[in-house]
Amino acid sequence: MPVLTVLEFFHGIGGLRAGLEKAEQEIALPVVTEVTAAFDISSICADTYNHNFEPGKTFTRDVKSLPDSFFIENRSDLWTMSPPCQPYTKRGKELDAADPRAAGLKRLTNVLRTCPSAALPFGILLENVPGFESSHSLSELQDSLRIRGFSFVKHELCPTQFEIPNKRKRFYLVAVKSTKSNILGTARDPPGGHTERRLEEFLFGDPERDYYEEEYKLPAHYLRYQAALDVVTQSSTESDCFTGAYGRYAKGSGSVLSCGSHGMRLFSSKEITRLHDFPELFEYPQHVSELKRYQLVGNSVNVRVVAALSKDLLYAAAQASQSS
Ligand SMILES: C[S@@+](CC[C@H](N)C(=O)[O-])C[C@H]1O[C@@H](n2cnc3c(N)ncnc32)[C@H](O)[C@@H]1O
Repeated sequence: MPVLTVLEFFHGIGGLRAGLEKAEQEIALPVVTEVTAAFDISSICADTYNHNFEPGKTFTRDVKSLPDSFFIENRSDLWTMSPPCQPYTKRGKELDAADPRAAGLKRLTNVLRTCPSAALPFGILLENVPGFESSHSLSELQDSLRIRGFSFVKHELCPTQFEIPNKRKRFYLVAVKSTKSNILGTARDPPGGHTERRLEEFLFGDPERDYYEEEYKLPAHYLRYQAALDVVTQSSTESDCFTGAYGRYAKGSGSVLSCGSHGMRLFSSKEITRLHDFPELFEYPQHVSELKRYQLVGNSVNVRVVAALSKDLLYAAAQASQSS
């Protein structure tokens, strides 16, 4: 069976990898994927990734330092990437390509523009925040893709369109090295914008106690911002986007759970990881604190949405390999 090799940039805790694996499991195609190298500057991300996927593939390295020779010697079929989103957010000052945190993506954009054709991947999957859509970084990436003969499709998708009661609207780009404009967009067909699934499916604990967990009792500093909190219950069919600041900042970092007479509590990192549709067996290494877990999963992706888009990539790759 043909193997599609994958380079994963800005791997974090591996949400793109989990999405690709989920896509592979859900569709019967005569291809399998193999991540040959995954890069991130954070060693805690590497620890978490290696805890859940076969170890030995991660490199704790700044993407912008990868030389041309790396891409030429390690040509891969697919590139997946979630570059840092701060350059495109209000909180991150919206400096766009001028933000040093955009330099990793800029490096990959330059590689795509200048490296020999034989080193180019067949397909690319990129995730970022909605503000990325109007950025200079994206316009440079699109220019490189057009110059090198890629077709691409852009999406703005939310897990609520995929039967998951959590809002996390994100920008996605799927690109393939083909001029056939209809090669993409066949597998993904999100059902709508709302789900009837209730949060209780994703919660841990004793239902008799309204899922109250003393460990997750609302921190005192949250109570000062009570009016600004998004309070949900176990029967809610929606929750706010959980960000990396969950547990530290009360405002705008994600919903809190009302547990009836017990009061309110935070969601646990395990519950948020479930809402992000990571595999049930996914876990964090013991040395990673609960606050750090919130940060890691808050910076991650929704695996279900990534899987839907990965199917597009895999179908396109299978189609291309049949016609070559
Ligand atoms: C949006 S998060 C990645 C999310 C990831 N897809 C996941 O599922 O967790 C961005 C990641 O990029 C890493 N990062 C930021 N700048 C980097 C750089 N220049 N080179 C490599 N990694 C970088 C951060 O440590 C962070 O883990």
